[in-house]
Amino acid sequence: MPFPQRRLRRLRRTPALRRMVAETALRPDDLIAPLFVREGIDEPRPITSLPGVVQHTRASLQQEVKALVGLGVPGVILFGVPERKDAEGSGASDPDGIVQVALRDLRDAFGDEVVLIADLCLDEYTDHGHCGLLTSDGTVDNDATLDRYAEVALAQAEAGVDIVAPSGMMDGQVLAIREALDEEELVDVAILAYAAKYASALYGPFRDAVDVEIVGGGDRKAYQQDPGNAREALEEVRADVDEGADIIMVKPAMAYLDVIARVRAEHDLPLAAYHVSGEYAMIKAAAERGWIDGAAVAMEHLTAIKRAGADMILTYLAREAAEALGA
Ligand code: PBG
Repeated sequence: MPFPQRRLRRLRRTPALRRMVAETALRPDDLIAPLFVREGIDEPRPITSLPGVVQHTRASLQQEVKALVGLGVPGVILFGVPERKDAEGSGASDPDGIVQVALRDLRDAFGDEVVLIADLCLDEYTDHGHCGLLTSDGTVDNDATLDRYAEVALAQAEAGVDIVAPSGMMDGQVLAIREALDEEELVDVAILAYAAKYASALYGPFRDAVDVEIVGGGDRKAYQQDPGNAREALEEVRADVDEGADIIMVKPAMAYLDVIARVRAEHDLPLAAYHVSGEYAMIKAAAERGWIDGAAVAMEHLTAIKRAGADMILTYLAREAAEALGA
């Protein structure tokens, strides 16, 4: 029998037909908003390379979370910008550190209405800008860093976090954190593992957002992954699952959709993807020049990430996407 003429176009004829056969529908429930909170400021500060995103004060952070909750966004992930940085990244585990203070504020204000996630890393807090402690020769010391991550996890847990999200790419970090939490009977605190995290040039605007500069113009290639490697990402994810991760993540998103799809095919745990600062900034910059329709590209990116297999997306587009979906 000859192939029926126009079969594939028939169901694309009207908006209702297209909705009916849609395979992927984005919902506000799929979105997690990354939020920055800065110690010691009275007014929110714009971030030039992330238009529309700010470093929040404690008060403006609460307003933003209120708006997100109202739009149906279920969770936020907090990043802290401390007043002072040091070699150990002390602010990350200080009970009065900015993220711990913000977590308590938000828990008091919103109870269980919002899922509170905290990025768990040292780079925002270290004066050298690396994600871990340095040895005397300037390399990142894996095992000494694990002890610091355990301290940070406990501080975030005591402050009321629901989920800690280790992003430093040290080997064994998920296990070290799980053991530290369980030992203190903080068994309900979950771990969202930045399992496959690439040494990407797309994190540039984020480093402006948290005032991070890596000492000596260095990079993170000795702990984050090489963009050319996909099988290695599967190994990273397997390790984190074995160590007790509750949610696994691939980061960045758009250039790694193949990795998302492969992780999805292999694992049944909830899978997150991080649409990172550079991905957001590229959309905003091109839209500002009138070269693309920014709102349409934003929805296309987020839908594609979900289509590839992500259950949830960390994205600076969370608020505007939730607004558009609710409209
Ligand atoms: C590390 C961390 C980074 C991001 C999230 N967690 C930066 C890095 O690895 O250099 C990047 C997120 C983004 O670009 O939006 N704490």
